[in-house]
Amino acid sequence: MSAPASGTRHALEVRGIAKSFQVGSETLDVLRGIDLAIPYGQPVALVGSSGAGKSTLLHIAGLLERPSAGSVRVDGVDGWNLSPDERAKVRNRKVGFVFQFYHLLPELSALENVLLPAMIAHSPGEYRAARAQLTEAALGLLARFGLQARTKHRPSQLSGGERQRVALARALIHDPPILIADEPTGNLDSATGERVLELLFDEQRTRHFAMLLVTHDAKLAARCPRTVTMRDGRIVGDTNGSGAA
Ligand SMILES: Nc1ncnc2c1ncn2[C@@H]1O[C@H](COP(=O)(O)OP(=O)(O)O)[C@@H](O)[C@H]1O
Ligand SMILES: [Mg+2]
Repeated sequence: MSAPASGTRHALEVRGIAKSFQVGSETLDVLRGIDLAIPYGQPVALVGSSGAGKSTLLHIAGLLERPSAGSVRVDGVDGWNLSPDERAKVRNRKVGFVFQFYHLLPELSALENVLLPAMIAHSPGEYRAARAQLTEAALGLLARFGLQARTKHRPSQLSGGERQRVALARALIHDPPILIADEPTGNLDSATGERVLELLFDEQRTRHFAMLLVTHDAKLAARCPRTVTMRDGRIVGDTNGSGAA
């Protein structure tokens, strides 16, 4: 793939990202100038040893945590330049986020967990009007992920692999241009993780969303056409290279 012309929109584009934490009297520079552009539809593996700054970068890219410097464009929109409400909308509609430990709401059923982003995104009136269609979409996702018989289960009644499949369905309910996942198989045994990945990549081939996946799993990294490596808050490797100018 050739280098994108400047001004080209990407699914995700982070520029000049720095992040420092104040710990007591010390300043910890966790991210030291990250530039990364992910074209629409491209799956990218993000690797690097523990403490390299991968999770911090994901949270900033996913508009969950504010950078100390730099910008994040999601689908062309400068997310950290928006009001908190506008940013919440962009995060809700344009970013699918999957965590290692699922982060499902325990008191909601699988179906309700998947519908939650849609409930938040709409006014009560809009949601009522769209509910049948949204429910159909959520049930379709759950069925594709093999959970048609689990839609009324609460997270505590589901296995780890099932919980992560619910979390994937929740992340994809709005058909986001970018899916961000932090060690999505890190809490699963390898066979279960493999099955979750199979479903994730099947879905990616159908919907063509871009992905930024942090992983320690060489098999997962190998599924991505591009691997970005971080060390000490910097990008030190990019197998494709075209996006990280
Ligand atoms: N809220 C925080 N306050 C202080 N230090 C933090 C905070 N979050 C992360 N760090 C530090 O930033 C570094 C990178 O963390 P992280 O992004 O979680 O790395 P990775 O995901 O690559 O293991 C680590 O040294 C970690 O201790
Ligand atoms: Mg991490």
